[in-house]
Amino acid sequence: MATLTGSKIIVVGGSSGIGLGVAAAALESGAEAVIVGRSADKLKAAEKRLAGAGRVRSLAADMANEADVARLFEEVGAFDHLVVTAGTPPPNYPIGEADMAFVRQFVDGKLIGAVMLAKHAVRTLKQDGSMTFTSGINKDRPPVPGGSVVSAIAGSFTYFARALALELSPTRVNIVSPGWVDTEMWDEIVGEAKAGYFDQMGARIPARKIATPADVAPAYLYLMQSEFMTGETLHIDGGQRLI
Ligand SMILES: NC(=O)c1ccc[n+]([C@@H]2O[C@H](COP(=O)([O-])OP(=O)(O)OC[C@H]3O[C@@H](n4cnc5c(N)ncnc54)[C@H](OP(=O)(O)O)[C@@H]3O)[C@@H](O)[C@H]2O)c1
Repeated sequence: MATLTGSKIIVVGGSSGIGLGVAAAALESGAEAVIVGRSADKLKAAEKRLAGAGRVRSLAADMANEADVARLFEEVGAFDHLVVTAGTPPPNYPIGEADMAFVRQFVDGKLIGAVMLAKHAVRTLKQDGSMTFTSGINKDRPPVPGGSVVSAIAGSFTYFARALALELSPTRVNIVSPGWVDTEMWDEIVGEAKAGYFDQMGARIPARKIATPADVAPAYLYLMQSEFMTGETLHIDGGQRLI
């Protein structure tokens, strides 16, 4: 396993939720972290929470905007690992009622954004480094009704990584697929009902709890460090796919 000490890691989505957890774990491992999100305020607050002994900086960029993405990599320069956890709440309409503007915005932010990040990252990502993207349990256990779009997008990441792992070799490309994780995204989607959802699901899944970002961050660290993992989708869901 390669060490992360002294390596430079870009975490797109690092101002909140899973990405903030990955940034914290990377800093603990001695890495330097560049956290990226759209909101400068959220980034500043996250930087404060991370207090990474001078090893954390933030950069505002929208991964759905190619000029932003290009600028991001120009400003950071050479780096070792790209982690992408960014995402927004998915569409949840039955297909017959799909709001196509919202669907396109979601696909742009999540899938096209990932393609643009990969496109521009290759210029400055070290050859022996890695890219790790995020899919999720929705591809395996789609919410019904309304789960078809997020399920399709999450599923596509597995094949994105397999193809890119071949194309970019020896650079490694992988996916983390989390189950439910207690993050700000849930507050946005279900508000106060979150506690009820989590109590119910937490009692049902084999791990008997809902993950925190700290519970899933080690999957990202492992994929960055393991020199033999590439083209893989690593599930970390407490057994949620089994129920
Ligand atoms: N939480 C779960 O239960 C769960 C389970 C499985 C999979 N996932 C997936 O994991 C990903 C992260 O979820 P999370 O729960 O950590 O969400 P979160 O707490 O809402 O964090 C999302 C992060 O992404 C950033 N972001 C969103 N859109 C962006 C864009 N266009 N460009 C740059 N940054 C952007 C946000 O900052 P700004 O808003 O400032 O841009 C924020 O830092 C999502 O794709 C989600 O679908 C989550």
